[in-house]
Amino acid sequence: MKGIILAAGKGTRLYPMTKPVCKPLLPVYDKPLIYYPLAVLLQANIRDIMVIIPPEEEETFAKLLGDGSAFGVHIEYAVQYVPRGIADAFLVAEEFIGDDSVCLVLGDNIFYDESREYRFIADAKKNSGATVFGYYVDDPRAFGVVEFDEDGKAISIEEKPRFPKSNYIVPGLYFYDNQVIEIAKNLKPSARGEYEITDVNLEYLRRGQLNVVPLERSFVWMDAGTADSLLLAANCIAEVQHRTGRYIACLEEIALQRGLLTQEQVHAAGDKISQTLYGQYLQCME
Ligand code: DAU
Repeated sequence: MKGIILAAGKGTRLYPMTKPVCKPLLPVYDKPLIYYPLAVLLQANIRDIMVIIPPEEEETFAKLLGDGSAFGVHIEYAVQYVPRGIADAFLVAEEFIGDDSVCLVLGDNIFYDESREYRFIADAKKNSGATVFGYYVDDPRAFGVVEFDEDGKAISIEEKPRFPKSNYIVPGLYFYDNQVIEIAKNLKPSARGEYEITDVNLEYLRRGQLNVVPLERSFVWMDAGTADSLLLAANCIAEVQHRTGRYIACLEEIALQRGLLTQEQVHAAGDKISQTLYGQYLQCME
């Protein structure tokens, strides 16, 4: 399975913050925002990753993530010149995906499992067709909203509905088989002129091949798309890390757990930044 992080949005909702630095590189407490979606792909044991970035940002992204070897994975970059919509990711990455299945994660979505098991990810990888998730929020109007029937089967998904049919939104983490390329190619732009990921999910639903897995309430999902949600996310990460003494989205730690890096490599990475708490955390890692 291939992994894609879609991180090519201009971040105009965060101006002037994102004038000099693009959104995925902004800090969320102690790490750049893009660490969090990348952590999800590492949790999923996906080792072949494409990061879709805005024009003229290759150098900054490469400076941060390089070719992925620091985390035991392969990372390559592709530019999305025009933000044509989330589903456009499958066209930008068509060659990279090849005949494989793919997991797409949005560059501003943060996921955290209190149990640290992330079992829902391993399960999603086993499914055929498409797998997305349902996450309860108080106000779902800014998201894709999924409606279930009495048996818990998904029956509709609407993008940013004025009158949502449920409180379950579809977060920005999607698992698809290879049909997704053909589906993305046949999409029509929506009223807001974008190739919508919700339309991809609706096509899988129409084909009877969409799994929608409700996420436990103990599970944390955040979208860091506005100044307020970015601050909320930073506070939440700091609070959990201080309370538990464990880091969220420590890429080297996940790579060590997955056997992608050795303990020596993680300690050496810590030695390079030993003046930071993050570095010291790596230095003591077992
Ligand atoms: O966060 C989850 C929600 O993400 C889903 O519930 C919605 O169904 C889905 O449409 C999406 O809604 P948003 O309105 O939050 O998407 P947004 O346009 O903010 O894009 C999400 C990220 O993807 C953002 O970091 C920018 C990046 N992006 C977006 C588009 C449209 C790109 O890199 N290229 C694009 O063309």
